[in-house]
Amino acid sequence: MSTVIKGGTIVTADLSYPADVLIEDGRIAAIGQGLSGDKVLDATGCLIMPGGIDPHTHLEMPFMGTYSADDFESGTRAALAGGTTMVVDFALPSPGQGLMDALKMWDNKSGRAHCDYSYHMAVTWWGQQVFDEMAEVVDRGITSFKHFMAYKGALMVNDDELFASFRRVGDLGGLAMVHAENGDVVAELSARLLAEGNTGPEGHAYSRPPQVEGEATNRAIMIADMAGVPLYVVHTSCEDSHEAIRRARQHGKRVWGEPLIQHLVLDESEYFNADWDHAARRVMSPPFRNKLHQDSLWAGLQSGSLSVVATDHCAFTTQQKRTGIGDFTKIPNGTGGLEDRMPLLWTHGVGTGRLTPNEFVAVTSTNIAKILNLYPKKGAVLVGADADLVIWDPKAEKVITSASQQSAIDYNVFEGMKVTGLPRYTLTRGVVAVADGKVDSREGHGEFVGREARPAVNRALSAWKELTAPRPVERSGIPASGV
Ligand code: URP
Ligand code: ZN
Ligand code: ZN
Ligand code: ZN
Repeated sequence: MSTVIKGGTIVTADLSYPADVLIEDGRIAAIGQGLSGDKVLDATGCLIMPGGIDPHTHLEMPFMGTYSADDFESGTRAALAGGTTMVVDFALPSPGQGLMDALKMWDNKSGRAHCDYSYHMAVTWWGQQVFDEMAEVVDRGITSFKHFMAYKGALMVNDDELFASFRRVGDLGGLAMVHAENGDVVAELSARLLAEGNTGPEGHAYSRPPQVEGEATNRAIMIADMAGVPLYVVHTSCEDSHEAIRRARQHGKRVWGEPLIQHLVLDESEYFNADWDHAARRVMSPPFRNKLHQDSLWAGLQSGSLSVVATDHCAFTTQQKRTGIGDFTKIPNGTGGLEDRMPLLWTHGVGTGRLTPNEFVAVTSTNIAKILNLYPKKGAVLVGADADLVIWDPKAEKVITSASQQSAIDYNVFEGMKVTGLPRYTLTRGVVAVADGKVDSREGHGEFVGREARPAVNRALSAWKELTAPRPVERSGIPASGV
Protein backbone atom coordinates (compact mmCIF):
# COMPACT_ATOMS: atom_id res chain seq x y z
CA MET A 1 0.00 0.00 0.00
CA SER A 2 1.34 3.43 -0.91
CA THR A 3 0.82 6.68 0.96
CA VAL A 4 0.86 10.17 -0.47
CA ILE A 5 1.28 13.37 1.50
CA LYS A 6 -0.52 16.19 -0.28
CA GLY A 7 -0.83 19.93 0.03
CA GLY A 8 2.22 20.67 2.18
CA THR A 9 5.50 22.52 1.84
CA ILE A 10 8.67 20.42 1.98
CA VAL A 11 11.23 21.99 4.29
CA THR A 12 14.74 20.53 4.29
CA ALA A 13 18.00 21.86 5.63
CA ASP A 14 18.57 23.81 2.42
CA LEU A 15 15.25 24.24 0.58
CA SER A 16 11.56 25.01 1.06
CA TYR A 17 9.11 24.23 -1.77
CA PRO A 18 5.55 22.99 -2.21
CA ALA A 19 5.32 19.33 -3.34
CA ASP A 20 3.59 16.02 -2.71
CA VAL A 21 5.53 13.05 -1.33
CA LEU A 22 4.79 9.47 -2.37
CA ILE A 23 5.83 6.67 -0.01
CA GLU A 24 6.22 3.02 -0.96
CA ASP A 25 7.73 0.21 1.11
CA GLY A 26 8.76 2.59 3.87
CA ARG A 27 10.78 4.84 1.58
CA ILE A 28 10.21 8.01 -0.37
CA ALA A 29 9.31 6.87 -3.90
CA ALA A 30 8.58 10.21 -5.57
CA ILE A 31 8.45 13.94 -4.90
CA GLY A 32 6.46 16.20 -7.19
CA GLN A 33 3.13 17.73 -8.13
CA GLY A 34 -0.15 15.86 -8.51
CA LEU A 35 1.05 12.53 -7.06
CA SER A 36 -1.48 9.92 -6.01
CA GLY A 37 -1.41 6.89 -3.70
CA ASP A 38 -3.67 4.43 -1.87
CA LYS A 39 -3.81 6.50 1.29
CA VAL A 40 -3.74 10.31 1.41
CA LEU A 41 -2.41 12.41 4.30
CA ASP A 42 -3.52 16.03 4.20
CA ALA A 43 -0.64 18.42 4.85
CA THR A 44 -2.50 21.64 4.03
CA GLY A 45 -0.94 24.48 6.00
CA CYS A 46 1.84 22.16 7.17
CA LEU A 47 5.55 21.64 6.57
CA ILE A 48 6.90 18.24 5.53
CA MET A 49 10.25 17.81 7.27
CA PRO A 50 12.69 14.98 7.95
CA GLY A 51 11.73 13.42 11.28
CA GLY A 52 13.87 14.54 14.19
CA ILE A 53 16.93 12.54 15.18
CA ASP A 54 17.93 12.67 18.83
CA PRO A 55 21.63 11.81 18.96
CA HIS A 56 21.77 11.56 22.76
CA THR A 57 19.46 9.40 24.90
CA HIS A 58 19.87 7.10 27.90
CA LEU A 59 17.00 4.61 27.90
CA GLU A 60 16.83 2.11 30.76
CA MET A 61 20.41 2.94 31.66
CA PRO A 62 21.97 1.64 34.87
CA PHE A 63 23.26 4.81 36.54
CA MET A 64 23.93 6.06 40.08
CA GLY A 65 22.47 2.97 41.73
CA THR A 66 19.26 2.85 39.69
CA TYR A 67 17.94 2.64 36.12
CA SER A 68 16.65 5.57 34.09
CA ALA A 69 12.88 5.23 34.08
CA ASP A 70 12.09 5.57 30.38
CA ASP A 71 13.03 2.46 28.43
CA PHE A 72 13.06 1.89 24.68
CA GLU A 73 9.29 1.40 24.78
CA SER A 74 8.17 4.60 26.51
CA GLY A 75 11.18 6.62 25.33
CA THR A 76 10.68 6.02 21.63
CA ARG A 77 6.92 6.47 21.99
CA ALA A 78 7.64 9.89 23.53
CA ALA A 79 10.05 10.62 20.67
CA LEU A 80 7.43 9.93 18.00
CA ALA A 81 4.81 12.00 19.84
CA GLY A 82 7.11 15.00 19.50
CA GLY A 83 8.17 14.42 15.88
CA THR A 84 11.43 12.57 16.52
CA THR A 85 11.76 9.41 14.43
CA MET A 86 15.16 8.12 15.47
CA VAL A 87 17.22 8.03 18.67
CA VAL A 88 20.86 7.21 19.25
CA ASP A 89 21.37 5.66 22.68
CA PHE A 90 24.59 4.98 24.59
CA ALA A 91 25.57 1.35 25.20
CA LEU A 92 27.31 1.61 28.54
CA PRO A 93 29.63 -1.15 29.74
CA SER A 94 30.18 -1.09 33.47
CA PRO A 95 33.87 -0.73 34.32
CA GLY A 96 35.53 -4.09 33.57
CA GLN A 97 32.68 -5.28 31.34
CA GLY A 98 33.39 -6.11 27.68
CA LEU A 99 31.98 -3.91 24.95
CA MET A 100 30.31 -6.76 23.07
CA ASP A 101 28.74 -7.93 26.31
CA ALA A 102 27.28 -4.46 26.89
CA LEU A 103 25.99 -4.45 23.31
CA LYS A 104 24.11 -7.67 23.99
CA MET A 105 22.42 -6.01 26.97
CA TRP A 106 21.39 -3.06 24.81
CA ASP A 107 20.09 -5.38 22.06
CA ASN A 108 17.89 -7.04 24.66
CA LYS A 109 16.35 -3.71 25.65
CA SER A 110 15.96 -2.08 22.24
CA GLY A 111 13.69 -4.75 20.73
CA ARG A 112 10.76 -2.79 22.19
CA ALA A 113 11.50 0.43 20.27
CA HIS A 114 8.69 2.14 18.37
CA CYS A 115 11.09 4.01 16.08
CA ASP A 116 14.50 3.31 14.55
CA TYR A 117 17.57 3.61 16.70
CA SER A 118 21.33 3.30 16.72
CA TYR A 119 23.94 3.22 19.46
CA HIS A 120 27.09 4.98 20.49
CA MET A 121 29.51 2.86 22.55
CA ALA A 122 30.85 4.25 25.84
CA VAL A 123 34.48 3.65 26.78
CA THR A 124 34.29 3.54 30.59
CA TRP A 125 37.61 1.80 31.25
CA TRP A 126 40.73 0.97 29.28
CA GLY A 127 42.58 -2.27 28.55
CA GLN A 128 43.54 -4.71 25.79
CA GLN A 129 40.03 -6.17 25.70
CA VAL A 130 38.49 -2.76 25.08
CA PHE A 131 41.09 -1.97 22.40
CA ASP A 132 40.38 -5.28 20.62
CA GLU A 133 36.61 -5.17 20.91
CA MET A 134 36.39 -1.64 19.53
CA ALA A 135 37.04 -3.11 16.07
CA GLU A 136 34.17 -5.59 16.51
CA VAL A 137 31.91 -2.76 17.63
CA VAL A 138 32.72 -0.82 14.45
CA ASP A 139 31.99 -3.95 12.39
CA ARG A 140 28.58 -4.05 14.08
CA GLY A 141 27.86 -0.56 12.70
CA ILE A 142 28.63 1.43 15.83
CA THR A 143 31.27 3.98 14.96
CA SER A 144 31.04 6.61 17.70
CA PHE A 145 32.71 6.19 21.10
CA LYS A 146 31.78 8.27 24.13
CA HIS A 147 34.15 9.08 26.98
CA PHE A 148 33.20 10.52 30.35
CA MET A 149 35.66 13.07 31.76
CA ALA A 150 33.36 13.34 34.82
CA TYR A 151 31.78 10.87 37.30
CA LYS A 152 35.06 10.19 39.09
CA GLY A 153 35.28 6.72 40.59
CA ALA A 154 32.54 5.46 38.27
CA LEU A 155 32.57 6.12 34.53
CA MET A 156 35.41 8.66 34.31
CA VAL A 157 38.50 7.98 32.19
CA ASN A 158 41.83 9.76 32.68
CA ASP A 159 43.85 11.61 30.05
CA ASP A 160 46.16 8.68 29.23
CA GLU A 161 43.11 6.47 28.65
CA LEU A 162 41.43 9.22 26.67
CA PHE A 163 44.47 9.62 24.40
CA ALA A 164 44.83 5.86 23.86
CA SER A 165 41.15 5.44 23.10
CA PHE A 166 41.01 8.50 20.82
CA ARG A 167 43.92 7.13 18.79
CA ARG A 168 42.16 3.79 18.44
CA VAL A 169 38.91 5.52 17.38
CA GLY A 170 40.87 7.53 14.82
CA ASP A 171 42.52 4.41 13.39
CA LEU A 172 39.12 2.73 13.10
CA GLY A 173 37.63 5.68 11.20
CA GLY A 174 35.27 6.44 14.08
CA LEU A 175 34.07 9.53 15.92
CA ALA A 176 35.28 10.34 19.45
CA MET A 177 32.70 11.83 21.82
CA VAL A 178 33.13 13.39 25.25
CA HIS A 179 31.13 14.35 28.27
CA ALA A 180 33.44 17.25 29.07
CA GLU A 181 33.61 18.21 32.74
CA ASN A 182 36.71 18.09 34.93
CA GLY A 183 35.75 15.19 37.21
CA ASP A 184 38.59 15.78 39.69
CA VAL A 185 37.54 19.37 40.33
CA VAL A 186 33.85 18.43 40.55
CA ALA A 187 34.67 15.76 43.18
CA GLU A 188 36.74 18.25 45.16
CA LEU A 189 34.10 21.02 45.03
CA SER A 190 31.33 18.57 45.92
CA ALA A 191 33.16 17.31 49.01
CA ARG A 192 33.81 20.86 50.16
CA LEU A 193 30.19 21.96 49.60
CA LEU A 194 28.85 18.99 51.55
CA ALA A 195 31.30 19.65 54.39
CA GLU A 196 30.08 23.24 54.55
CA GLY A 197 26.47 22.11 54.83
CA ASN A 198 25.42 22.74 51.22
CA THR A 199 23.56 19.48 50.83
CA GLY A 200 20.57 20.59 48.71
CA PRO A 201 20.17 20.35 44.92
CA GLU A 202 21.62 23.85 44.47
CA GLY A 203 24.93 22.30 45.61
CA HIS A 204 24.93 20.34 42.35
CA ALA A 205 25.03 23.59 40.35
CA TYR A 206 27.73 25.11 42.58
CA SER A 207 29.86 21.97 42.18
CA ARG A 208 29.91 22.22 38.37
CA PRO A 209 30.72 25.82 37.37
CA PRO A 210 31.19 26.61 33.68
CA GLN A 211 34.97 26.51 34.11
CA VAL A 212 34.98 22.74 34.74
CA GLU A 213 33.25 22.32 31.41
CA GLY A 214 35.38 24.84 29.53
CA GLU A 215 38.61 23.30 30.78
CA ALA A 216 37.58 19.74 29.92
CA THR A 217 36.25 20.71 26.50
CA ASN A 218 39.50 22.43 25.62
CA ARG A 219 41.51 19.46 26.93
CA ALA A 220 39.45 16.99 24.90
CA ILE A 221 39.84 19.11 21.77
CA MET A 222 43.63 19.23 22.12
CA ILE A 223 43.89 15.51 22.89
CA ALA A 224 41.66 14.70 19.89
CA ASP A 225 43.83 16.90 17.69
CA MET A 226 46.98 15.08 18.83
CA ALA A 227 45.26 11.74 18.27
CA GLY A 228 44.03 12.76 14.82
CA VAL A 229 40.35 12.03 15.46
CA PRO A 230 37.19 14.09 14.92
CA LEU A 231 35.45 15.06 18.16
CA TYR A 232 31.82 15.50 19.18
CA VAL A 233 31.22 17.33 22.48
CA VAL A 234 27.90 16.26 24.04
CA HIS A 235 25.66 18.58 26.07
CA THR A 236 27.57 21.83 25.50
CA SER A 237 25.94 24.06 28.10
CA CYS A 238 28.00 27.23 28.43
CA GLU A 239 30.07 29.90 26.71
CA ASP A 240 33.29 28.48 28.19
CA SER A 241 32.81 25.21 26.35
CA HIS A 242 31.27 26.82 23.27
CA GLU A 243 34.23 29.19 23.06
CA ALA A 244 36.67 26.27 22.94
CA ILE A 245 34.61 24.57 20.22
CA ARG A 246 34.29 27.79 18.22
CA ARG A 247 38.02 28.40 18.39
CA ALA A 248 38.80 24.81 17.35
CA ARG A 249 36.50 25.05 14.37
CA GLN A 250 38.05 28.35 13.32
CA HIS A 251 41.41 26.57 13.37
CA GLY A 252 40.06 23.91 11.03
CA LYS A 253 39.64 21.17 13.61
CA ARG A 254 36.80 18.68 13.13
CA VAL A 255 34.83 19.42 16.29
CA TRP A 256 31.07 19.55 16.80
CA GLY A 257 29.08 20.87 19.77
CA GLU A 258 25.66 19.68 20.90
CA PRO A 259 23.52 21.96 23.08
CA LEU A 260 20.46 20.41 24.74
CA ILE A 261 16.96 21.84 24.57
CA GLN A 262 16.99 21.96 28.38
CA HIS A 263 19.98 24.33 28.47
CA LEU A 264 18.45 26.49 25.75
CA VAL A 265 15.16 27.12 27.56
CA LEU A 266 15.72 26.52 31.30
CA ASP A 267 18.13 28.41 33.54
CA GLU A 268 19.97 27.99 36.84
CA SER A 269 17.21 29.68 38.89
CA GLU A 270 15.45 26.28 38.86
CA TYR A 271 17.96 25.02 41.46
CA PHE A 272 17.06 27.79 43.89
CA ASN A 273 13.38 26.87 43.98
CA ALA A 274 12.24 26.41 47.59
CA ASP A 275 10.60 23.10 46.70
CA TRP A 276 13.27 20.34 47.06
CA ASP A 277 11.55 18.08 44.52
CA HIS A 278 11.31 20.89 41.96
CA ALA A 279 15.05 21.56 42.16
CA ALA A 280 16.14 17.91 42.35
CA ARG A 281 14.07 16.93 39.32
CA ARG A 282 16.21 19.35 37.33
CA VAL A 283 19.57 18.05 38.51
CA MET A 284 21.57 17.03 35.49
CA SER A 285 25.15 17.38 34.32
CA PRO A 286 26.12 19.92 33.23
CA PRO A 287 23.59 21.98 35.21
CA PHE A 288 21.38 24.70 33.76
CA ARG A 289 23.21 28.02 33.35
CA ASN A 290 22.40 31.73 33.39
CA LYS A 291 21.06 33.87 30.56
CA LEU A 292 24.50 34.83 29.20
CA HIS A 293 25.33 31.19 28.58
CA GLN A 294 21.93 30.58 27.02
CA ASP A 295 22.47 33.49 24.64
CA SER A 296 25.84 32.02 23.69
CA LEU A 297 24.23 28.67 22.82
CA TRP A 298 21.56 30.30 20.67
CA ALA A 299 24.19 32.37 18.90
CA GLY A 300 26.19 29.19 18.27
CA LEU A 301 23.23 27.55 16.58
CA GLN A 302 22.61 30.68 14.52
CA SER A 303 26.21 31.07 13.39
CA GLY A 304 26.94 27.38 12.92
CA SER A 305 29.60 27.01 15.61
CA LEU A 306 27.21 24.62 17.40
CA SER A 307 25.73 21.93 15.21
CA VAL A 308 22.87 19.96 16.73
CA VAL A 309 20.22 20.08 19.46
CA ALA A 310 19.69 16.95 21.57
CA THR A 311 17.92 15.99 24.82
CA ASP A 312 20.28 13.66 26.75
CA HIS A 313 16.93 12.11 27.74
CA CYS A 314 17.68 10.35 31.03
CA ALA A 315 14.50 10.45 33.09
CA PHE A 316 14.16 9.60 36.77
CA THR A 317 10.99 9.60 38.87
CA THR A 318 10.58 11.90 41.87
CA GLN A 319 11.04 8.83 44.08
CA GLN A 320 14.37 8.06 42.41
CA LYS A 321 15.49 11.68 42.77
CA ARG A 322 14.73 11.53 46.52
CA THR A 323 17.66 9.13 46.98
CA GLY A 324 19.65 12.34 47.23
CA ILE A 325 17.81 13.98 50.14
CA GLY A 326 20.55 15.24 52.44
CA ASP A 327 23.33 14.72 49.85
CA PHE A 328 23.03 16.29 46.40
CA THR A 329 25.76 14.02 45.00
CA LYS A 330 23.35 11.09 45.31
CA ILE A 331 20.55 12.66 43.24
CA PRO A 332 20.44 10.66 39.98
CA ASN A 333 21.66 13.02 37.24
CA GLY A 334 19.37 13.45 34.28
CA THR A 335 16.22 15.01 32.83
CA GLY A 336 13.72 14.12 30.12
CA GLY A 337 12.93 15.97 26.91
CA LEU A 338 12.30 13.53 24.04
CA GLU A 339 8.68 14.53 23.48
CA ASP A 340 9.34 18.24 23.87
CA ARG A 341 12.61 18.94 22.01
CA MET A 342 11.09 19.70 18.60
CA PRO A 343 8.08 21.80 19.74
CA LEU A 344 10.23 23.77 22.20
CA LEU A 345 12.98 24.45 19.68
CA TRP A 346 10.41 25.50 17.10
CA THR A 347 8.71 27.80 19.61
CA HIS A 348 11.86 29.38 21.07
CA GLY A 349 13.96 29.17 17.90
CA VAL A 350 11.77 29.65 14.83
CA GLY A 351 8.98 31.41 16.73
CA THR A 352 11.38 34.10 17.95
CA GLY A 353 13.20 34.51 14.63
CA ARG A 354 16.45 33.08 15.97
CA LEU A 355 16.33 30.12 13.56
CA THR A 356 14.85 29.72 10.10
CA PRO A 357 12.73 26.62 9.46
CA ASN A 358 15.62 25.25 7.37
CA GLU A 359 18.08 25.79 10.22
CA PHE A 360 15.60 24.05 12.51
CA VAL A 361 15.71 20.98 10.24
CA ALA A 362 19.50 21.14 10.11
CA VAL A 363 20.02 21.14 13.88
CA THR A 364 17.26 18.64 14.75
CA SER A 365 17.93 16.13 11.99
CA THR A 366 20.12 16.69 8.93
CA ASN A 367 23.34 17.82 10.62
CA ILE A 368 23.04 14.90 13.03
CA ALA A 369 22.52 12.46 10.16
CA LYS A 370 25.59 13.83 8.39
CA ILE A 371 27.86 13.82 11.45
CA LEU A 372 26.84 10.25 12.36
CA ASN A 373 26.95 9.04 8.75
CA LEU A 374 23.25 8.25 8.54
CA TYR A 375 22.59 10.64 5.67
CA PRO A 376 20.67 10.42 3.32
CA LYS A 377 18.95 7.28 4.65
CA LYS A 378 17.89 9.49 7.56
CA GLY A 379 17.67 13.28 7.84
CA ALA A 380 16.58 13.84 4.23
CA VAL A 381 13.47 14.32 2.13
CA LEU A 382 14.86 12.70 -1.01
CA VAL A 383 13.76 9.85 -3.25
CA GLY A 384 15.16 6.65 -1.74
CA ALA A 385 15.43 8.00 1.81
CA ASP A 386 13.55 6.30 4.65
CA ALA A 387 10.10 7.85 5.02
CA ASP A 388 10.84 9.07 8.55
CA LEU A 389 8.89 12.27 8.25
CA VAL A 390 7.09 14.80 10.38
CA ILE A 391 4.19 16.78 8.98
CA TRP A 392 4.50 19.86 11.09
CA ASP A 393 1.65 22.20 11.89
CA PRO A 394 3.37 25.49 12.74
CA LYS A 395 0.15 26.91 14.22
CA ALA A 396 -0.86 24.03 16.50
CA GLU A 397 -0.53 24.81 20.20
CA LYS A 398 -0.42 23.04 23.52
CA VAL A 399 0.73 23.54 27.08
CA ILE A 400 3.29 20.94 28.17
CA THR A 401 2.10 18.86 31.10
CA SER A 402 3.12 15.54 32.59
CA ALA A 403 -0.57 14.61 32.75
CA SER A 404 -0.60 13.89 29.02
CA GLN A 405 3.01 12.95 28.29
CA GLN A 406 4.26 9.60 27.00
CA SER A 407 7.25 9.47 29.34
CA ALA A 408 6.91 7.10 32.30
CA ILE A 409 7.91 9.66 34.92
CA ASP A 410 5.57 11.66 37.16
CA TYR A 411 6.58 15.20 36.18
CA ASN A 412 7.96 17.24 33.29
CA VAL A 413 10.74 19.80 33.70
CA PHE A 414 8.97 21.98 31.09
CA GLU A 415 5.59 21.79 32.89
CA GLY A 416 3.34 24.73 32.02
CA MET A 417 5.36 25.97 29.03
CA LYS A 418 3.24 26.81 26.00
CA VAL A 419 4.46 25.59 22.60
CA THR A 420 3.34 26.63 19.13
CA GLY A 421 4.32 24.11 16.43
CA LEU A 422 3.48 20.41 16.75
CA PRO A 423 3.36 17.32 14.55
CA ARG A 424 0.09 16.73 12.72
CA TYR A 425 1.50 13.36 11.63
CA THR A 426 4.71 11.53 12.47
CA LEU A 427 5.74 8.73 10.12
CA THR A 428 8.30 6.07 10.89
CA ARG A 429 9.43 4.33 7.71
CA GLY A 430 6.13 5.27 6.10
CA VAL A 431 3.91 4.08 8.96
CA VAL A 432 1.77 6.76 10.61
CA ALA A 433 2.64 6.60 14.31
CA VAL A 434 1.09 9.89 15.42
CA ALA A 435 -1.98 11.63 14.02
CA ASP A 436 -3.37 14.86 15.47
CA GLY A 437 -1.72 14.37 18.83
CA LYS A 438 -2.78 10.72 19.16
CA VAL A 439 -0.01 8.14 19.33
CA ASP A 440 -0.80 4.86 17.63
CA SER A 441 2.59 3.27 17.13
CA ARG A 442 3.76 -0.31 17.40
CA GLU A 443 6.15 -1.59 20.02
CA GLY A 444 8.96 -3.45 18.23
CA HIS A 445 8.54 -1.58 14.94
CA GLY A 446 11.91 0.15 15.43
CA GLU A 447 14.99 -1.27 13.73
CA PHE A 448 18.66 -0.92 14.51
CA VAL A 449 20.46 1.30 12.01
CA GLY A 450 24.11 0.42 11.54
CA ARG A 451 26.59 3.05 10.44
CA GLU A 452 29.82 2.90 8.49
CA ALA A 453 33.05 4.44 9.66
CA ARG A 454 33.58 7.95 8.33
CA PRO A 455 36.28 7.54 5.74
CA ALA A 456 36.24 11.08 4.35
CA VAL A 457 36.92 12.99 7.56
CA ASN A 458 39.32 10.44 8.96
CA ARG A 459 41.21 10.09 5.69
CA ALA A 460 41.76 13.87 5.69
CA LEU A 461 42.92 13.78 9.29
CA SER A 462 45.19 10.79 8.73
CA ALA A 463 46.72 12.41 5.62
CA TRP A 464 47.50 15.41 7.77
CA LYS A 465 48.92 13.11 10.49
CA GLU A 466 51.09 11.35 7.92
CA LEU A 467 52.43 14.66 6.59
CA THR A 468 53.31 15.90 10.05
CA ALA A 469 54.41 12.56 11.59
CA PRO A 470 57.73 12.58 13.48
CA ARG A 471 60.64 11.52 11.28
CA PRO A 472 64.31 11.30 12.19
CA VAL A 473 66.36 14.08 10.54
CA GLU A 474 69.00 12.70 8.13
CA ARG A 475 72.35 14.13 9.28
CA SER A 476 75.88 13.88 8.05
CA GLY A 477 78.89 14.53 10.20
CA ILE A 478 77.41 13.36 13.52
CA PRO A 479 79.98 14.13 16.21
CA ALA A 480 81.52 11.13 18.01
CA SER A 481 79.67 10.37 21.24
CA GLY A 482 81.19 11.04 24.65
CA VAL A 483 83.80 13.63 25.56
O1 URP B 1 22.97 14.35 33.90
C1 URP B 1 23.07 13.69 32.88
N1 URP B 1 23.47 14.28 31.79
N2 URP B 1 22.75 12.37 32.92
C2 URP B 1 22.91 11.44 31.89
C3 URP B 1 24.30 10.92 31.79
C4 URP B 1 25.20 11.90 31.11
O2 URP B 1 26.10 12.44 31.73
O3 URP B 1 25.03 12.18 29.93
ZN1 ZN C 1 26.97 13.29 29.96
ZN1 ZN D 1 7.69 22.97 41.10
ZN1 ZN E 1 24.11 11.79 28.35
